Amino acid sequence: MTQDWLQRWQEGRIGFHRDTMHPALMRFWPGLGLASGARVLVPLCGKSHDMRWLAEQGHAVLGVELAETAIEQFVAEGDGEVVRDTHDTFAITRQGGVELWCGDFFHFPVDHADAFGAFYDRAALIALPEAARQRYAFHLAQLLSPGARGLLVSLTRASGDEGGPPYTVTPEEVCELFAANFDLRHLVDAPRDPDSGFQESVWQLTRRGPRAGSRGR
Ligand SMILES: C[S@@+](CC[C@H](N)C(=O)[O-])C[C@H]1O[C@@H](n2cnc3c(N)ncnc32)[C@H](O)[C@@H]1O
Repeated sequence: MTQDWLQRWQEGRIGFHRDTMHPALMRFWPGLGLASGARVLVPLCGKSHDMRWLAEQGHAVLGVELAETAIEQFVAEGDGEVVRDTHDTFAITRQGGVELWCGDFFHFPVDHADAFGAFYDRAALIALPEAARQRYAFHLAQLLSPGARGLLVSLTRASGDEGGPPYTVTPEEVCELFAANFDLRHLVDAPRDPDSGFQESVWQLTRRGPRAGSRGR
């Protein structure tokens, strides 16, 4: 799977990349009511322009992305000094308020736990095969502070279309994956795209704190 993504970036097969901000981000992010300084985690971030928008809102943004090509394109398309660093196996690239960690999200260190007060998942969960999604939901939860909020944009393909990525993740599966650690609110279903047959759904997730009596479970 890793190789497939790297190859896609090498060959420029990045149909998922949007040239403009995602409309759901601009519509629903303000309603999350986050402090402007809240740190935002963007898993499987690609070279999304949404990260610049989040930085413009005053957030410190940290994206995690496998493909070095994506990160190099992101900074080449941006303005400002580029600063480089490393942490374990991750190469870190900073520009403006955006910090990009190059490597596997599943290895993103949990010593960052509680570091993030917010997250943004557009086309991250739905990029993963079914077998990886529970691990993703759990790893994301581990990285967020209690009360952290974020947006998740999921997707379903047209009925009978079993392809992917992007994979169909039904509303039922979204609830099953995240309900253990998050309060979920379904915000909207976008109209189904007549060409691709894809329909996006937008969710607000709030990381629950540890419950009294749940320690050690
Ligand atoms: C469908 S794209 C979405 C990118 C971005 N969120 C957007 O909206 O444009 C999924 C991205 O996740 C990256 N990716 C896939 N598996 C990953 C992993 N395990 N860790 C980090 N990045 C990963 C891919 O290289 C690809 O850029």
